[in-house]
Amino acid sequence: MFTQSHKIATDNCAPHLTPKLAPWMQQLLASSEIIKDWIDLYGSPLHIINDSEFVRNANDLLQPLKSHGLTGNLFFARKANKLPWFVTAAREAGLGVDTASLQEVQETVALGVLPERIIVTAVGKEKRLVTAAIKSGALIVIDNDDELEMVRAISQTLNQSCRIGLRFSGFQLQNRVVFSRFGFPVESFGSLMDSLSTSPQIKLELLHAHIDRYDPEERGAAAHQLIALCDAARERGHSITGIDLGGGILMRYLESSSQWETFLEELLESARENRPSFTYLDDRLGYVKAGPNVVGKPDLYPVWNAISKERFITAVLKYSERGEALYQKLSDRKLSVFFEPGRALLDNTGMTAASVTFRKRDTGGNFLIGLAMNRMNLRPFRAEFCSDPILPINGLREPFKEGAFFVGNLCSESDLIFKRRISITHLPLPEDLVCFANSAGYLAHHMEIGTHGDPLPKNILLETGDFNVKAVV
Ligand SMILES: Cc1ncc(COP(=O)(O)O)c(C=O)c1O
Repeated sequence: MFTQSHKIATDNCAPHLTPKLAPWMQQLLASSEIIKDWIDLYGSPLHIINDSEFVRNANDLLQPLKSHGLTGNLFFARKANKLPWFVTAAREAGLGVDTASLQEVQETVALGVLPERIIVTAVGKEKRLVTAAIKSGALIVIDNDDELEMVRAISQTLNQSCRIGLRFSGFQLQNRVVFSRFGFPVESFGSLMDSLSTSPQIKLELLHAHIDRYDPEERGAAAHQLIALCDAARERGHSITGIDLGGGILMRYLESSSQWETFLEELLESARENRPSFTYLDDRLGYVKAGPNVVGKPDLYPVWNAISKERFITAVLKYSERGEALYQKLSDRKLSVFFEPGRALLDNTGMTAASVTFRKRDTGGNFLIGLAMNRMNLRPFRAEFCSDPILPINGLREPFKEGAFFVGNLCSESDLIFKRRISITHLPLPEDLVCFANSAGYLAHHMEIGTHGDPLPKNILLETGDFNVKAVV
């Protein structure tokens, strides 16, 4: 039915990006008829969750704190996944929770997390959120003067003291300032201290920085500067207990670094038109052709990371300035250190499965595999999530060498699950499965929409150690 296209050679596929698979994912994929049964029951796509990996990640991420003799903890950034199960897992593991909205604060409180373990880092806090946070006793991380004024006013009206942290930005690293639009400029520290001295009901406990780029050096440099501010705040009588270095802790999605390097090289080569394009309608994933040159940079979710998880935290703690390591400075001052990992705590905890709806060609001859899902069901912040889908085979399938684009079920030309042509070994049939590894951090929930009246995808939680479904949301 679908003969090999003459227009599309097999070298028009994107280079392989083999996903890293946790043992439970490998076992589940080996008995993929179970996943098919779940899809029949709960619909496509389906997010499959195994929360036991969360505890393993928490232990790994806390290890560098322990081995450097530091006090502190992790606040799980729950914006990375909406499910209540991870909040419960965080509570049971003794972690805190970082909340980013009124809904998240209310749910986290209702799930029994102690107020001293809840921080509120929401951007653009509204009165209802600040009121709920103060009433609950959670710590509010304040980003700007307007927020500080609102917090001050609400705590006065409620006649209730309020725990706060101050978020800073504008840290110096070598000869540059680390860019951010979040937080107070470090230079405003003195005036902030003056302003807080008139509000004894506001208790400053923590200094905070969340840095956008995934760079341990930027975090290390920020931490050294926050410590200097902690010293100054303590001199002004504030009981600062620690610093919070936010999230952005890297993790690895791929099996091999060499595949990632090859992919990046080939993408640039195709943007330069030195090889056939493997992106849909020559999208180029962030590169732009300007005359004979290629400008810009690839807009890709960071899927290969050489220093990931605990090694990332270790690199931050060991970051030295004037011969003094960060962990030493923290320890000398009895300051705790906190991190707010989202994705790194969710590593290996989730997988998404969808079923094939159709196979066809578009007018350009591109082979399309339609899935019962849309692009927003697996959406990174960036142009492309670079890990290949898995097509478990059940029964005989025709070999298929030409590669395919995976498309969603929205009536939009742009509804592509990936913009790269994926190399596949065989032609799937309608209702066959397509699975996506490691989807729990952001990909599954961050941007999902219920369009065309479709409900949001279901999530199932597996029992630890087997494939019984413990809960469905
Ligand atoms: C303030 C804050 N903390 C924590 C996180 C979690 O980051 P990640 O999931 O990269 O660890 C974010 C993410 O945007 C954030 O804005």
